[in-house]
Amino acid sequence: MQPLRFVTTNSGKVREAEEYLEGRYDVEQLDYDYTEIQSDSLADIAAHGAREAFDARDDDVPVIVDDAGLFVNAVGGFPGPYSSYVEDTLGVERVWRVAETLDNRRAAFRCTVAFTDGETTETFDGAVQGRIVAPRGDGGFGYDPIFEHDGETFAEMNTEAKNALSHRGRALAKLADWLAER
Ligand code: IMP
Repeated sequence: MQPLRFVTTNSGKVREAEEYLEGRYDVEQLDYDYTEIQSDSLADIAAHGAREAFDARDDDVPVIVDDAGLFVNAVGGFPGPYSSYVEDTLGVERVWRVAETLDNRRAAFRCTVAFTDGETTETFDGAVQGRIVAPRGDGGFGYDPIFEHDGETFAEMNTEAKNALSHRGRALAKLADWLAER
């Protein structure tokens, strides 16, 4: 099996990637602190990170990086690529307080997975639509308690159910299809 490095501090993401790439790639976790460029594009941020992490190593092992965020339609996609910063500063509960004032609370989780092998860099996008609600549920992480899809928040779903329809799962599925065709 070929090795593939997933640059992340989150071992849950590595397990999720393994499910999609099972039997074809041996997914290793690489804890590397790449530069998160400032951009409105998840694809630009992830691709830049993947190339930087690849260049930091002296071998040809391909690398993947993911970048994700919550995009609230009525406020121009806020917090979008700044979701991490907003989670740490404003906090999830207060993102709900902002959304509560909106008539239209539709939102999407978006994720881009960037792959590079030093020669080819490709990005794969996944999204899941939903709406912002008052926090419910104890599972998941980040914005999961305030994101509702089909009547359930992501924090109310078990990991398997969430992964089956999540933005990251959809991006990983596209990556897996592309790798299978190469
Ligand atoms: P990252 O790109 O995975 O580091 O995520 C960026 C931001 O989006 C962080 O604040 C995460 O908590 C949040 N985020 C990403 N994916 C999810 C998710 O599946 N559920 C909840 N929050 C998420």
